[in-house]
Amino acid sequence: MRLPLSTWPDIESWLQQSTCIVLPIGSMEQHGPNGFLGTDALCPEIIANHAESLAPDKLLIGPTFNVGCAQHHLGFPGTVTLRPSTMIATMVDWTESLLRHGFDKIYWLNGHGGNIATIEAAFAEIHARRSFDPRGADTRPDLWLKRRDWWDFREVLALCNELYPQGHGSHATASEVAVTYWAYPERERQHTAMSPKIAPNGSISDAVRYRQDFPDGRIGSDPTQANADDGGRLVAAAAQCLIKDVATFVSH
Ligand code: NI
Repeated sequence: MRLPLSTWPDIESWLQQSTCIVLPIGSMEQHGPNGFLGTDALCPEIIANHAESLAPDKLLIGPTFNVGCAQHHLGFPGTVTLRPSTMIATMVDWTESLLRHGFDKIYWLNGHGGNIATIEAAFAEIHARRSFDPRGADTRPDLWLKRRDWWDFREVLALCNELYPQGHGSHATASEVAVTYWAYPERERQHTAMSPKIAPNGSISDAVRYRQDFPDGRIGSDPTQANADDGGRLVAAAAQCLIKDVATFVSH
């Protein structure tokens, strides 16, 4: 089931059978010359929705948290970001909204490496708020929060190594671009040559420095390798992993 396409009675009846919800979380940031700005939000959303189509009774997919921490990409037009403190506050509000309805297992399927530290900080903030408030502590449900990065599923990693033995990279990767091309094939870009073919590697700090060090936005990658067919294989693998991982989380 998908929350944005459900009615409130649908959700009320879902809660009779499950108190788990999956939230795709990503970012709105430049992804090199041929990747969409929404790539990091689209990938977990595409994977979650595909998994839901395979197991509609097992998964409830919530709204996509589609703007994350991307200050280092602000040198490129179109990037939209939250400060870490804003993102933490927003994640607290999303979580406490869901908790009020009875959701007590919240699984965040993440699509952006730059979100990881802030997601974990948000979890710490949410748990701290509960620890500081003893009211109802004896009767309230436990709250379980989990972050999973879609590219980090073992089968997905193995497939990325097989498909892209060279130039997979760490930003604007061939795999994430491929996933979006599978879902939006009419928007697949003709591959223009990129120079250098494999982008440089390096560390990141602020937006000005980032654009100096990585002028076309890529880090370590050659996303000209991306195509929709490979994207479909990645989505299929990731969706199966998600279904299993959520089942484990639910039975926790
Ligand atoms: Ni990305």
